[in-house]
Amino acid sequence: MSETLKIEYNGNTFELPVIIGSEGEKAVDITRLRQETGFITYDPGYANTGSCKSCITFMSGEKGILRYRGIPVEQLAEHSSFVETTYLLIHGVLPTRRELNHFSVLLNDHSLVHEDMREFFQNFPRASHPMAVLSSMVNALRSFYPELHTVEEEMDMTVTRLLSKVRTMAALSYKISRGHKVVYPRPDLSYCANFLNMMFDTPVRPYVIDNDLTKALNVFWILHADHEQNCSTSAVRLVGSGRVTLYAAISAGIAALWGPLHGGANQAVVEMLQALADSGASVKSLVARAKDKNDPFRLMGFGHRVYKTYDPRAKIMKAVCDTVIRKLNIKDPLLDLAKALEEVALQDPYFIDHHLYPNVDFYSGIVLRALGIPTNMFPVMFAIGRLPGWIAQWKESMDDPEWRLCRPRQVYIGPPERAYIDIDER
Ligand code: ACO
Repeated sequence: MSETLKIEYNGNTFELPVIIGSEGEKAVDITRLRQETGFITYDPGYANTGSCKSCITFMSGEKGILRYRGIPVEQLAEHSSFVETTYLLIHGVLPTRRELNHFSVLLNDHSLVHEDMREFFQNFPRASHPMAVLSSMVNALRSFYPELHTVEEEMDMTVTRLLSKVRTMAALSYKISRGHKVVYPRPDLSYCANFLNMMFDTPVRPYVIDNDLTKALNVFWILHADHEQNCSTSAVRLVGSGRVTLYAAISAGIAALWGPLHGGANQAVVEMLQALADSGASVKSLVARAKDKNDPFRLMGFGHRVYKTYDPRAKIMKAVCDTVIRKLNIKDPLLDLAKALEEVALQDPYFIDHHLYPNVDFYSGIVLRALGIPTNMFPVMFAIGRLPGWIAQWKESMDDPEWRLCRPRQVYIGPPERAYIDIDER
């Protein structure tokens, strides 16, 4: 017999079905709660709310586990490529050699953007934040690539276009913002190498592809590829539930990701470390500020809604960081500061009691900086990485027979009914 959870109120007992996930996670099904009891639930920030059933990503905040379609992220980071991981997330299985080849060719074939789009990029003020540009231009893609005839054709083509064009648009936008000559994607280069080439190749200084740096970018994007129902993914699902185009849903995801509490944290970490270096203040004083309840400052790159232990992605990112710095033979004072900060924070009772550990953003900014990515583009790098996850989650929601328009309720605590007062009598 299936399990139930009983609620008792005013002498009445209500039984709610229990759902058990494939990793033993328990949820109580409240879909009939309001109808049967008149109650709704109250859960600010949805910390206890399961918004869907999903087969895509499993994470355990207590054990520090992250798996895409059942495969540990550590294994994917070691053996896979970003394109292969993208296929896995969207199609649910690892591709055969033939499927992977076909998928890569498809991404390459659609990697150019409509030439007319360049004018749009050119007309954004030079100081625009790249996330504002990307979010607008992804939404604008629909105007350049109108709807196709069948739903399947439309879905497959939109997914392909987004995966291939967003990367091109990010590099194009960077080049134009600098007043540099735009570099087109090359068919002979892999997805990640192509991006680095589009960003850094110039007519006077050809970009030399380095396999270790390309691997670092692959790992960076694999680690960001999905993270179940986080803020931006929930935005994609929520906006998508109104049956908007995938372009509009992804544009909403990019907007949600921008914030410093979410995908903007990698930028915020580097800015925090830079400010610390510039001020000459001590690491301990920064930790003291983060603990001070009268100071709104938080240690960027620390803490996570789900992980209450070391973020498994942060461990991999830290190792990538060391490799990239060694490979480029650079000395980044921010890396030394980051390590010192981590050491102090991890021994501090406040951070121990609050289960605050470095998250993926703590070291990722230093990796991106070493690769030559400008600081304000860090959230864009996150967005390109998260694209497969957003698409997979959106696709799953579209195919889900239980999926409905997302429309939470509220507990109204405003004034009770009162009469309108004429303006002369107020
Ligand atoms: N520095 C100092 N204190 C912190 C931090 C931090 N980075 N993060 C949480 N806390 C403290 C809070 O002050 C609070 O303390 P209290 O209970 O004594 O009042 C407690 O820990 C819980 O904090 P919440 O904000 O309730 O935790 P929540 O789960 O909502 O927040 C979040 C998670 C937003 C990530 C938070 O840890 C944070 O702001 N971190 C810094 C920003 C950051 O790195 N974001 C990236 C997240 S990962 C990602 O999106 C890819």
